[in-house]
Amino acid sequence: MRKGFLENPNSSSILRNNQLFELNAVDVNYGRFKALSNISFSISVGEITFVTGKSGAGKTTLLNLLAGDLRADKGKVKLPSKKIFVSQVFQDLKLFKHLSVEENLWYAFDKSIYKSKNEFHKDMMELCSVLGIVDKLDLKIKDANGGLKQYCAILRALLSKPQVLLADEPTASLDKESALKLFELLNFYNVKKNLTVIWASHNRDLVKQFPGKIVHLESGRLIYSGHACFI
Ligand SMILES: Nc1ncnc2c1ncn2[C@@H]1O[C@H](COP(=O)(O)OP(=O)(O)OP(=O)(O)O)[C@@H](O)[C@H]1O
Ligand SMILES: [Mg+2]
Repeated sequence: MRKGFLENPNSSSILRNNQLFELNAVDVNYGRFKALSNISFSISVGEITFVTGKSGAGKTTLLNLLAGDLRADKGKVKLPSKKIFVSQVFQDLKLFKHLSVEENLWYAFDKSIYKSKNEFHKDMMELCSVLGIVDKLDLKIKDANGGLKQYCAILRALLSKPQVLLADEPTASLDKESALKLFELLNFYNVKKNLTVIWASHNRDLVKQFPGKIVHLESGRLIYSGHACFI
């Protein structure tokens, strides 16, 4: 699995096996504390999966495991092959605070995935216009509100043209209308570009409105895994 927003082979032809992630009876411990316990589920290419649960339930731990940043202490974990490009949006966003929104977005530019800077700029402007933030591009991140920062982090990830997007609390600072706008955008990428989306959120009522699978955690245990409409 390749990571980061600066690399991208973007070759969907390598997705021969439909299953990207598979967890089988997985535990993750921090010292003697069991953060995840006996977790089993799988995620296939092109699925949208919401990881839900209250604060401390283990959502970030699970995303870090799926990103390959944490190892399981018990059980089996199958991750995507190294050729699959995975882009991550972290809970703390990891934006450059003293740079503008646009300067942060340019970090997604990579000569191997865009023919020219013009092409990248066109994509960037299109995405910014969908989210209604074209007039905010010059704002420094340190002066931006939480919602704009969140949009910026997601757009940077999308502009790197990933095959899998792992996003931790992407709607935490957004009001309902802005969250819906973001979801529509991710849904568009899912349908048009077969983007696999894994989205962690403490707001189960919000994600239940969207089509997708839910993996619900409570105190590190898997309480529900299945279609959102059955929960
Ligand atoms: N590095 C760490 N060392 C020790 N304990 C940790 C560490 N990271 C997380 N934990 C603990 O593991 C549990 C799960 O944490 P995690 O961050 O995965 O939860 P979360 O569902 O993402 O919470 P939030 O909604 O607040 O982001 C919590 O009890 C947390 O305190
Ligand atoms: Mg978290």
